[in-house]
Amino acid sequence: MASRLLLSFLLFLLISIATSSPPLLSNLKEKQTHLHFFFHDIVSGRNATAVPVTKPAAGAHPQSFFGMIAVMDDPLTDGPDRNSTLLGRAQGLYAATDQEEASLLMTMNLAFTAGKYNGSVLSVLGRNQPLHPVREMPIVGGSGLFRFARGYALARTHWFDLTTGDATVEYNVHVIHY
Ligand SMILES: *[C@@H]1O[C@H](CO)[C@@H](O)[C@H](O)[C@H]1NC(C)=O
Ligand SMILES: *[C@@H]1O[C@H](CO)[C@@H](O)[C@H](O)[C@H]1NC(C)=O
Ligand SMILES: *[C@@H]1O[C@H](CO)[C@@H](O)[C@H](O)[C@H]1NC(C)=O
Repeated sequence: MASRLLLSFLLFLLISIATSSPPLLSNLKEKQTHLHFFFHDIVSGRNATAVPVTKPAAGAHPQSFFGMIAVMDDPLTDGPDRNSTLLGRAQGLYAATDQEEASLLMTMNLAFTAGKYNGSVLSVLGRNQPLHPVREMPIVGGSGLFRFARGYALARTHWFDLTTGDATVEYNVHVIHY
């Protein structure tokens, strides 16, 4: 009788541990994922996907746009063509935070909407000097399949229209997650 009670108690304990605790990191396998996509920053026209919400500070260095903040909801596609398969959207802010040169503070969520990563998000917080050939930005976290994510993104301008300011940027993202 006593041993049966003990057994059901242990069983109860086991079930409550299994249902109430998140999986232990030590039981999960670390994965490394490479993502490749194109980011379309469209600032011109009626269908702009990034809009400035502040003007550059008066008297600032003209090349830096210091003080400008833009809000973006930029499409991410699998190819360089804006009409290629949509993989997700880059949603967030970029701000010109350098008084001397063009340099942006990027704070954005890469919200994936297709395939395996549909519903999963990677968060980026980094420095982006758009005139440099390659920019590296840290991946500081994620959700969904990207829980506990850490890694980096490499951004290279694929196309830039000097007159409109529209740009297509190639991204290679390397993340470690579980
Ligand atoms: C904006 O989007 C609408 C609807 O998709 C489209 O009909 C229109 O041609 C687009 N305008 C520009 C300037 O791209
Ligand atoms: C995308 O498709 C629309 C409508 O089908 C077209 O007007 C537009 O020029 C295309 N854009 C590109 C970059 O090919
Ligand atoms: C992504 O997930 C949403 C919500 O579950 C679903 O409605 C949508 O159809 C999915 N998109 C793709 C491309 O699978």
